Amino acid sequence: FSLQAFNTFGIEAQARFFAEVQSNEDLMSLLFFKGFKNIHRLILGGGSNILLTQDFEGLVIKIGIKGIEKIREDEESVWVNVGAGENWHEFVLYCLDNGWNGVENLSLIPGTVGAAPMQNIGAYGVEIKEVFDSLVAINMTNGELRTFTKEECKFGYRESIFKNELKNQYAIVNVTFRLTKKANFNISYGAVAQTLADMGVTTLSAKAISQAVIKIRQSKLPNPEQIGNAGSFFKNPEISKQLFEELKEKYPSIPSYPIDEQRVKVPAGWLIEQCGWKGKRIGNTGTHKDQALVLVNYGGATGQEIKSLAEQIQQSVVEKFGICLSMEVNII
Ligand code: EPU
Repeated sequence: FSLQAFNTFGIEAQARFFAEVQSNEDLMSLLFFKGFKNIHRLILGGGSNILLTQDFEGLVIKIGIKGIEKIREDEESVWVNVGAGENWHEFVLYCLDNGWNGVENLSLIPGTVGAAPMQNIGAYGVEIKEVFDSLVAINMTNGELRTFTKEECKFGYRESIFKNELKNQYAIVNVTFRLTKKANFNISYGAVAQTLADMGVTTLSAKAISQAVIKIRQSKLPNPEQIGNAGSFFKNPEISKQLFEELKEKYPSIPSYPIDEQRVKVPAGWLIEQCGWKGKRIGNTGTHKDQALVLVNYGGATGQEIKSLAEQIQQSVVEKFGICLSMEVNII
């Protein structure tokens, strides 16, 4: 079964078996089907954060569980339960239509709702953990349904327990968000404020912020439907203040975001660009011309080729800056 249409890199790789599930019951029966005992399993959302480097000799399960339901509200907030298979951006639009605030900065992020907490998706000053209430996941070994609170998910920068201690152990089936009725906008990210001003927006609204974010993303990030990619390929590295000061002496224009007294985050895209990789093409792969952090498949690239490019980039960033870039995309 070809997985090409199920990963935003557009990599051609085969799965031995493939199934899409629409409900918890479907998923459960598939997980415990006798014929699939001891088989390797890969849970797939929108396929927007994976790089397939070989055929998958097992069962790929695409989570198609749908549904958006308001389950509770008080004066300030609404709690909304969403099926893991809902498309993330469609959920954002649904919130905008209902006047629920909190996810507007996360507009246009590819992928599904169920995959979003896995890596605590974030953009333009907001992370999903800020609007996250809880999620329900199925333990793939014993079939138990478990609710995870925000604390239990151990969210960090592009991190959660599901990428670490509990990797490959749970399938997320639904997520509950707490959104606000009152405006509580975040335009701390310079480009958002600037774009709103350019658009002539005088009264802030979630819809206006969403439109600004969409504009910025469309101007910088390639549309996976046109050029295969999985967004940022690496995480922005956190380095010590001491190393940062040393680098600043040598490269006065190095951008940075403070984390705490000891640590600083630097944009991986800048480091990669400085190493001469921006817009560079090798065969059918390369880095995007407007955003060096995004690796692309111009068509026909293999996962191995993209992985090899990623490793070459890591190598040159280590050599030039002494910084080790870690991959954000899951290599399969
Ligand atoms: N930069 C360069 N050259 C480049 C790219 C970036 O010099 O080719 C420098 C510029 O100084 C720019 C700075 O890096 O000001 C930051 O760039 P940008 O605003 O594009 O954001 P980013 O740090 O590269 C992160 C997230 C994105 C998210 C944006 C906006 C990570 C790994 N990536 O990118 O998330 O959309 O911020 O908040 O944290 C994703 O995870 O897939 C993703 C797209």
